[in-house]
Amino acid sequence: MSRKKTNYYIMLRDKYKLPIYTLRMPGSRIYVVNSPALISVVQRQHKALAFMPLAAKASVKVSQFSKTASEIINTNTNGEDGDWGYVMTFHDAIQPSLAPGTHLDAMNRVMLGLVAQSLNGLKERSHTTVKLFDWVQHQITLATTSSAYGPSNPYKDPSIEAAFRTFKLGMSNLILGLNSTRTASEGMRAMEIGAAAFEKYFIANKHQEGSALVQARYSHSMSHHIPLNDISRSEFSHGIALLSNTVPNTFWMLYHLYSDPELLEQCRKEVSDATTVIDNNEGEPVQTLDMSKVKTSCPVLLSTYKEVLRFYSTSISARLVMEDHMLDNEYLLKKGSTVMMPNPVQHHNSDVWGPDNDSFDPRRFAKPGKRPNPACFRAFGGGTTLCPGRHFATTEILAFTAVMIMQFDIEPARSKWVQPSWNKVEFWEATPSPDEDFGVEIRSVKGRTQGRNWAFVLSDSDKPIELSAEDLAS
Ligand code: HEM
Repeated sequence: MSRKKTNYYIMLRDKYKLPIYTLRMPGSRIYVVNSPALISVVQRQHKALAFMPLAAKASVKVSQFSKTASEIINTNTNGEDGDWGYVMTFHDAIQPSLAPGTHLDAMNRVMLGLVAQSLNGLKERSHTTVKLFDWVQHQITLATTSSAYGPSNPYKDPSIEAAFRTFKLGMSNLILGLNSTRTASEGMRAMEIGAAAFEKYFIANKHQEGSALVQARYSHSMSHHIPLNDISRSEFSHGIALLSNTVPNTFWMLYHLYSDPELLEQCRKEVSDATTVIDNNEGEPVQTLDMSKVKTSCPVLLSTYKEVLRFYSTSISARLVMEDHMLDNEYLLKKGSTVMMPNPVQHHNSDVWGPDNDSFDPRRFAKPGKRPNPACFRAFGGGTTLCPGRHFATTEILAFTAVMIMQFDIEPARSKWVQPSWNKVEFWEATPSPDEDFGVEIRSVKGRTQGRNWAFVLSDSDKPIELSAEDLAS
């Protein structure tokens, strides 16, 4: 299991061809679900097969909360005594700030302005030599966190960005409770640095200049009497949700777009067709990209994005069995066991995606004909734990990659593109980073629009695109 990682579940699926099976571990059982129909049943039973008690336990471990906060967070985690308590009300408290509408538009607009500003600035230089993953990580970190936290974003201080990276490296051992290991101790020290910065931020009321998301998270914690130092710890660890998938997915987008000249040309043409030229206040032409148009009239770019999500997702949705439960009137699940639904089992399945399911096909989602079962596309999870940040992340990744390909050429330093491996992915990560980073040279594209600045608009409210079976149903 630890060597093969998520491929282990694909191997067992192909060997035994079972809808669900038991892995007996020392002292506990894991039920692994292969059948998409059973996944839907699991997701509907969200009280008997619960996520929140697992999430509450993990968050207490990684954030190293005080005794007071741990007790508040671990109380009534599954609504045994009614729909109250920190955990039970968390989802509803933050959901409106990330759902399509005014709050999301506002956060998107800040993020799009920052992406445009940073890429327009890059264009001033004749060329830039960087490590690609590291560079993407820095760009996305700044754009994402500034749109979440506003002008006093703590991540503007490079030591906080560095502390977050160290914290992330310690996550696995912190979740496993191996606190005396080197990475966990370094992660705990990094948490102290991050928490101190956020405590200063909240004391100065800087969150009031930030997004509706950060304000909703803060008010929710305050209303449950979480101490300020713990709110700050929670906010620092929230960086995992904000950044840990957007960064690698943007990296894989760039890797596939630039390493495939035909695909790059086709996507450049699509984005060019979605672009208009508008004069700015000084009468200079600005290339303006309407993000709502990108989502409706750039089918190959969009398909490449969905294929990145399909191909690379390593997420495993987990549920705790709260009481002995007869799943679908057929399978007995024992209290205290864990149910696991590994995404790769759905995403790499020839019955759903065809015989080429193990290859990366950027045009897979743009082909005419019958569409694969949407329940088998689970990059953002599903049911009550469906990722609420999916629309924000999608706008950011598409905006960043669209303007990047229009403004820049990227050449690898080692003269040809080589598919990076991603075996170092940790068990909790939903998207892997490349095992090794590599150098690239970024140069402005030559041509008619060379030297022009770019800007984004969001016409109307940001229209969501289908990113889950739930989006199709709504
Ligand atoms: C491409 C980027 C992203 C991917 C692939 C992704 C994926 C996921 C996945 C797989 C889950 C777990 C779902 C489950 O177990 O059923 C999740 C949950 C979550 N995500 Fe994302 N995510 C992304 C970006 C974001 C962003 C930018 C935010 C915040 C603004 C965010 C906030 C959350 C939260 C709060 C949860 C927990 C939901 C809950 O427990 O109710 N995500 N995400």
